[in-house]
Amino acid sequence: MKVSEIDTPALLLDLDAMERNLEKMARFFSGGTRLRPHYKNHKCPELARRQIARGAIGLTCATLSEAEALVANDIDHILISSEIAGAPRIRRFIQLARSADVMAVVDNPDTAAAIGTAARNARCRPGLLVNVNVGQNRTGAKPGVPALDLARRIAEEGMKFRGLMGYEGHVAHMPEGAEKISAYDLAMRALMNTKRLLEENGFTVGIVSTGGTGTYHLSRRFPEITEFQAGSYLLMDTDYKRTCEDFEPALSVLGTVISRTGNERVVIDAGLKSISGEHGVPLVKSVEGLKLRKLNAEHGIIDIVDPGVQVQPGDTIEVWAHYSDATVNLHDRIYGMRNGVVEEILKLQG
Ligand SMILES: Cc1ncc(COP(=O)(O)O)c(C=O)c1O
Repeated sequence: MKVSEIDTPALLLDLDAMERNLEKMARFFSGGTRLRPHYKNHKCPELARRQIARGAIGLTCATLSEAEALVANDIDHILISSEIAGAPRIRRFIQLARSADVMAVVDNPDTAAAIGTAARNARCRPGLLVNVNVGQNRTGAKPGVPALDLARRIAEEGMKFRGLMGYEGHVAHMPEGAEKISAYDLAMRALMNTKRLLEENGFTVGIVSTGGTGTYHLSRRFPEITEFQAGSYLLMDTDYKRTCEDFEPALSVLGTVISRTGNERVVIDAGLKSISGEHGVPLVKSVEGLKLRKLNAEHGIIDIVDPGVQVQPGDTIEVWAHYSDATVNLHDRIYGMRNGVVEEILKLQG
């Protein structure tokens, strides 16, 4: 299948670039700390399989639906990294944990108790990690005694305490340098001190899960980290690339030119419903002399900077994914491209 035969808007993946990213991260985490990559970045069971084939110990998921999609594809050893709360979701989690190795995180004693009650009723003993706030100030129990109390609560409820998670998302996008390293160390020390406190109180902290793409290279400073949750590295995007040079953007959106107004502008059929504008307006990839100015719901409005640009209605234009997580979320498949042709169509699920 040629590019010209793809119905637009469509998500394209440069397979060569993706494979180089896959290989680079796999090699980095081939001993000591292991990779449990984040599924939310690509939402593609087939790519998850390739990550496992290159050494990943399982997948990290943001949502129950992602975990369910993986289990439906016979992939498990999953950590759900966002808290699960509310009866319907807890029921779904318990159902999933009965059929596969799926762990969740908690940061609140009442939620731990609710999961405990549901688990006992279902005669299930799920594995839980305590999520520790290491400075991102999003979710997570306070380091130290509050985290210890939660570990105790998990055990009292009859569930398996598996370890600690501490996601240093506030450090991942910092530019490289001394400031980033000291912010990283501060975050990780809070987690490692909590680990020691739990061990002094008789807990085995089997899992210490941290990490994102922008901090992978710092992870060896803390050999206590058992697993790493980086996700964006695989498809990468042009926003992340600004602070993380090590991986190549591999994802773009293909649109068809539906209108040209003289030498002022062209408009493509790809707007906010197929390209995320969350982190800023993406760059045009495939044609020089064009500048994407604005995304409406169904329209991408592109200014003609070089009047010599030869694009007419019916032609296609590729735009970089500037925020891959949110762009993937808008599609149900990715066209895997090599040497200008479609090599495979990858289904997205979750
Ligand atoms: C909890 C958690 N872990 C890991 C990641 C992966 O980070 P990255 O996309 O920087 O690889 C994210 C991303 O937002 C996250 O929220």
